[in-house]
Amino acid sequence: MNGNRKTLLPVLGSIVGLSLLVAGCEDYPPVDAEQQGFRGVAMEHVTNPRTVARLKARNQMPEPLERFEAEGDLASEVYENVQVLGDLRETEFLRLMTAITEWVSPEQGCTYCHTDNLADDNIYTKVVARRMLQMTKTINSKWDNHVGETGVTCYTCHRGHPVPEEVWHRDPGPKQARGMTASSAGQNIAADAVGVTSLPYDPFYTLLQQDNAIRVASNAALPRGDNPVDIKDTEETYGLMMHMSGSLGVNCTFCHNSRNFSAWDESRPQRTTAWHGIRLARELNNTYLEPLKPVFPEDRLGPLGDPSKVNCATCHQGVHKPLFGAQMLKDYPELNAVK
Ligand code: HEC
Ligand code: HEC
Ligand code: HEC
Ligand code: HEC
Repeated sequence: MNGNRKTLLPVLGSIVGLSLLVAGCEDYPPVDAEQQGFRGVAMEHVTNPRTVARLKARNQMPEPLERFEAEGDLASEVYENVQVLGDLRETEFLRLMTAITEWVSPEQGCTYCHTDNLADDNIYTKVVARRMLQMTKTINSKWDNHVGETGVTCYTCHRGHPVPEEVWHRDPGPKQARGMTASSAGQNIAADAVGVTSLPYDPFYTLLQQDNAIRVASNAALPRGDNPVDIKDTEETYGLMMHMSGSLGVNCTFCHNSRNFSAWDESRPQRTTAWHGIRLARELNNTYLEPLKPVFPEDRLGPLGDPSKVNCATCHQGVHKPLFGAQMLKDYPELNAVK
């Protein structure tokens, strides 16, 4: 009897401990499951209503500013140093300045990007913001295969913060012991970037900046010659997939049919949208963000000297359509056409 109690107590203790641990990880059940693929293939989207409620609260679109008749002269005529927004009328121009202040630097105000003379480019934030205007217009006009009519504004990424909350720089990883110890090749560290798994902790530089293939299925047994896919590449692919799922708040079957991850004809159309999203992120990082390196002060750069860059989470922030698909761009057509 006594012996029994002795073994029972630790068992009970671990059950209680374990349930507390589990309760700490995930909101309590019940969860909702929505069928998204053919019957019987388990392509279900599982959501927890309590998590969704929290996400909804965090992903609200701000009220659009009132729009006025496009009046006054062209900004290029009234002002001294307008290189991107020159085609806007005065009223449109000032409304947009007010909006970007609300989206990017609501606490700091106009002075986050301007010194006494509004025409001066002597503050890095203004130079960055000009490039951001061009970047936003490119996203909206060139990448409709990803952002559709929904589009993006500065708010999609910034959400009232001068530096968006979800960005990445190159990660030097933990210090490596020297001598005979093998390089861990970025493994065996529970990294946030890859869903707290021990997959390679920096899939962003190789896959969202460099133009490497995102493949695991090889067509030969050994990684040589025309078959460059090795285990490290495979793990990086999985690392990126963990990031993509986490950023969108979905599981793998939101895009894939898990009986064959490679097959496009068995995937959902969302996988094609995601494919374009990967190319979009690469263009933003290579054409807009990396080249801003000399503009940023040193303390804004990462440990390897690169500026912060974009991944799926920068826009999506836990939701499969940023801001739950709120149509924000239609109130700011100035951010659409590339002029
Ligand atoms: C996030 C950065 C940012 C904020 C905040 C901002 N601006 Fe600007 N502003 C710019 C950029 C970039 C330009 C240049 C646009 C271009 O080259 O097309 C500019 C240009 C201007 C100009 C034209 C000056 C000239 O003569 O060339 C005026 C006027 C102006 N802003 C007013 C404001 C006002 C007023 C506010 C606050 C309500 C404000 N801005 C807030 C980035 C910002
Ligand atoms: C696709 C996401 C995205 C969009 C859209 C976007 N930005 Fe940015 N922005 C970034 C990233 C990433 C950085 C780099 C973060 C940093 O400054 O280290 C950045 C940096 C900035 C900075 C410099 C902040 C600082 O102090 O270092 C300014 C100013 C800025 N953006 C203004 C804008 C404006 C204005 C718009 C809209 C016209 C805009 N951004 C749209 C992602 C975005
Ligand atoms: C938002 C859509 C999306 C989600 C969610 C997603 N994937 Fe992917 N996956 C893709 C796309 C797109 C590609 C192809 C990328 C490319 O070729 O550039 C891909 C490629 C892959 C590949 C490589 C297939 C091959 O041909 O070698 C594997 C394996 C994979 N995904 C597994 C996963 C796993 C496991 C998860 C969940 C942790 C997941 N994916 C979540 C969109 C998604
Ligand atoms: C510049 C901002 C931005 C970035 C970066 C971005 N997306 Fe998107 N994404 C959007 C917008 C906006 C939509 C909504 C489009 C619409 O309403 O049709 C969207 C839609 C999607 C959809 C379709 C969702 C659905 O419910 O149909 C998928 C899948 C997706 N994105 C995946 C990704 C992946 C994966 C990445 C990173 C590789 C990524 N996105 C990066 C802005 C972005």
